[in-house]
Order: sequence, then structure tokens, then C-alpha cells
Amino acid sequence: MNGPGSRMMTCIFSVVLVTYVLQEVGAGDLRQVTEPKIPATCVSLKGTGGTETSVLQKALSSCGKGKVVHLASGTFVSGPLTIPSGVGLWIDSGAVLKASSDPKLFDKGKNLCGTVNTVYHGCYPFIHMVNAIGSGIYGEGTIDGQGGIKLTGKTQSWWDLAHEAKLKKEHQNNPFLIEIENSKDVVLYQITIKNGPNFHVVVSQTNGFTAWGVTIATPSTAGNTDGIDPAGSQNVTIAHCTISTGDDNVAIKASNGPSRHISVLNSHFGSGHGMSIGSDINDGVSDVTVNALTLHGTTNGLRIKSDRSRGGLVTSVSYSDVCMQNVVNPIVLDTAYSPTATGNLIPEYKDITFNNIRVLTAGKFTFDGYSDAKPIQVTLNNVHIKKGSKWVTKYAKISGKYFEDENGNKC
Ligand SMILES: *[C@@H]1O[C@H](CO)[C@@H](O)[C@H](O)[C@H]1NC(C)=O
Repeated sequence: MNGPGSRMMTCIFSVVLVTYVLQEVGAGDLRQVTEPKIPATCVSLKGTGGTETSVLQKALSSCGKGKVVHLASGTFVSGPLTIPSGVGLWIDSGAVLKASSDPKLFDKGKNLCGTVNTVYHGCYPFIHMVNAIGSGIYGEGTIDGQGGIKLTGKTQSWWDLAHEAKLKKEHQNNPFLIEIENSKDVVLYQITIKNGPNFHVVVSQTNGFTAWGVTIATPSTAGNTDGIDPAGSQNVTIAHCTISTGDDNVAIKASNGPSRHISVLNSHFGSGHGMSIGSDINDGVSDVTVNALTLHGTTNGLRIKSDRSRGGLVTSVSYSDVCMQNVVNPIVLDTAYSPTATGNLIPEYKDITFNNIRVLTAGKFTFDGYSDAKPIQVTLNNVHIKKGSKWVTKYAKISGKYFEDENGNKC
């Protein structure tokens, strides 16, 4: 019975099974993503601590395709930089690239950058990649957005502007730290990114983006500072990343094209508003895989948020092997994020699966669908939560069940 023949059969069956499961779950990034490599250097620079925008931009602009500008050591301060197509930036261990805190350097020409106003988008991003193929940022060094430092000629920091804007119900004009637009096969590898004045990494209308081994470390009190936002992008992998910030750790959006085939793998989230899809999703989000994620101390865990002013279809989302501790709202599927919203862009969430989920501390679980005609459709498999949790459902079709038996004390 147990001869080598049967073992071989078991082995073959396992391979077939694993292949099958991978294809099933392969709803995420369709590319075969492996650990990135740092390309060859075109020029190596040492930072002096002074503002060196033109030195850096010149080095980037004259570096050949397939090569990187190497920041070897020291501190570089800079205004906005553009990384050309095919070119990379290697920030070596110990080197720091700081965004200048002079809003004038980022201003798009209307004197809006660094102000709170009814209009926004007044700033250029700190690092911009647009129509870029194969560009990237690499290395064990740091990009510091200096979000908490007083701005040149002002009494407030970028984050103070964000808080003021929230109070006044207006907009802060703060730069994104890294913005990737209309690009292909862009990589962020190993770098530490901190203190973003606004969102840290915005990836819009891009096909092929990998963040691998990236750390985002920004205080929980910094307003409006999403970690990584794929928006209207496809074939995205976020793997081996550690993200702590003052807003969504990851937010998948879709109001400038659909977002599809997105994988979040083997990552850890500290403070932040969670692993989010939304809130602008009117072009649809599908084929998202979240696997092997731990969350500690986030306000939300796995979250899909939208409302009738900006909703759409979110489908084929699978969360598996997720562990959470000290998370206030471990699962929130919400179709009335802004309860007073008006419009006919109805949020619809279906084919959402939760597999092997452990939640070690009590929290609130919300499944709030839009209507009987458009209920949330969810499958639970092996979901274990802590006794004393709150479970709230409305217009939700839930197959499978949860167990209030989680007693672990470590993810
Ligand atoms: C996503 O990746 C797959 C596999 O490499 C490729 O066939 C497909 O064209 C990619 N999609 C986009 C939108 O780039």
C-alpha cells in the first residue's frame, strides 16, 4: 500500500492540485514576479546635505536606459525629480534623499502648493515617472518626505495643512511623494520611504508594477498619507513590504480605468487605515489576491469602501492567510462610506472570499450591502475571530461561517 509507486502517485496528485489552486487563486498579478535586481550604475554621487535638484536631475536625464544613478552616501535635498523611461535610482544603504520643504519648488505655477484651498492638485510630485518603461527606485537607503517639518516661510508643516484642510472641509495642496503614471514594468525595491507630505506611492494607469521589500514608516498622526495606491492599474505586486502610516496602508482605486490583477503578498501592516479597496471604484476592481498578510494596530483590517457617488463593481477578491491583532474593524465591507453621498454609481461587491483568517482581538465586523438587489456576496472559510466581537450584516449573502474561538496571542 505504501510502496514508492503510491508515494509517486500522491506526489503527482499534489503537483496537479497545487497547479490548479495557483491558477484558481491566480486572480492576482498575472506576471511571474521574482525578486528584482539592481541594474548597473551609470554614475555614483555623494550627498552634501544641500539642495541638489539640478545635479540629481542632470544625472538621471543623462543616465542610459537600463542603468541607475547611484546615491552612494550622505544626504541629498531636492525639489521635484523625474525619472526617465528605463532609468533607475539606487539609494544605497545610509544615503538619504529628502524632499525639500520649500513648497515653491513643487508649485505647478498657480501658487497653490503649500496652501489649503477649495481647489487642489497644485503641486508636482517629489519623484515622478510618466510614460516610463522599466524605471525603478532601488536600494536600502531612505526617501524622506519631511511631512512633519515646518515649510519654508510658513508656520505649518505639510501634515498641519492636511489637518487644517480636514477641519475646513477643503483640500491641502501637498505633493505626492512618488507618482507613477501611464507606465509599464516599474519597480520599487528595498527602499525605506517615510514622512510623505501626502500619499506615498501613487501608481496610476500603469501595467506592471512591483513593490518588493519596501518599508513605509510614517506616524499614525500624519493625515492623508496612504502607503501604496494602485489606481486604474493592472498586474501589480506588493510583496515583502512593511507599511505603517496615517491613512490607508494600501488603497486600490479605479476612477481612471479598472484596477485588475493585483497581488498583496507576504507583507506586514502596522498603523494605518488598512488593506483597502476604494473609495473611488467606478471603473471596477477585480482579481485581487491578498495572501499572507499580518496587521497590527491598524484601525481597519480588510476593507472595501465606497458610496453611490463613486461606486462600481468589486469582484473576485480573495483574502487568505491573514492574521490581525489590535485591529478595531477587522473586516469592513461598506457601501455607504459617505452616508450623505448622492448619485447612481452603486457599489456592488461580489465573489469576495475570506480563507484562513485569524483575528486575535475582539473587533467589529461589518458587511453592509447596498440593497436586496445588490447585496454583498461573501464566502467565509476557516475564519476564526475572538469572542466578544461584533458582527453586523445588512443586505449581505454570506456563505460559510465564522468561529468565535480564536485564542492565539501572536500572529
Ligand atoms: C498582465 O500580465 C500578463 C502576463 O504577463 C499579460 O499577458 C497581460 O497582457 C498583462 N496585462 C496588462 C494590462 O499589461
